Amino acid sequence: MKTIYTEKISSTNDYLKKLKKPLEDTAIIAKRQTGGRGTKGRSFICDEGGAYFSLLKLYPCQAKDSFQIMENSALSVVKALKAFGVSAKIKWPNDIIVNGKKICGILIENVFEGEYVSRSVIGIGINVNNQIAGEIKDIAISVKEVLNKEIDEKALIATVLYNLYLPLNHEEYVKNLLYIGEEVTIITNKSTYKSIIEQILPNGNAKLIDGTELSSAEITIRPL
Ligand code: BTN
Repeated sequence: MKTIYTEKISSTNDYLKKLKKPLEDTAIIAKRQTGGRGTKGRSFICDEGGAYFSLLKLYPCQAKDSFQIMENSALSVVKALKAFGVSAKIKWPNDIIVNGKKICGILIENVFEGEYVSRSVIGIGINVNNQIAGEIKDIAISVKEVLNKEIDEKALIATVLYNLYLPLNHEEYVKNLLYIGEEVTIITNKSTYKSIIEQILPNGNAKLIDGTELSSAEITIRPL
């Protein structure tokens, strides 16, 4: 794996997406990002002390199996955090949660060619030793806050990157999900309602108790 370290960058995902000669298994790790991006067009706060990194994979899988990339990345982070003494779970599709607060966000950007994902940029931001900004204190948490001590963020990143190459599976992903079988708030861009998520299917869709299947592009879930 080729690993690039940088003090400051706009976005590690953008760096890998713009590479003229994309090289398989290139990772970039930044101390700070000035234009960190989140899912659904949101920005992602990236203060010093956090772990901000992206990995480029070429030809990772068939397009129909692309949810596996999300599952693998979420599990890779959960397993790495566990190795450092932090017990985390996944909020579908791939937010990593500790004590009801977000400790890590993942942004996966795929390029599809016919039946295949020809390129996948897996971007991961973990609150490690960074100070959580006042305005997000109720919804975000850091490793430092959980453990009451700082850890080596580079060692945590190395563990996640290692895990990204493990053969992880859907059952393992499902076992680590929060809110399955519980009533949650479902938010679409037109309405908000309550329902129960019966299961997350291997294609990545949430199956609600009434049989409806919805993708994470269509809905966001919130605990009650
Ligand atoms: C989210 O929670 O909405 C996803 C956040 C993903 C943030 C990471 S930090 C490294 C990589 N570079 C980015 O610009 N975003 C991802």
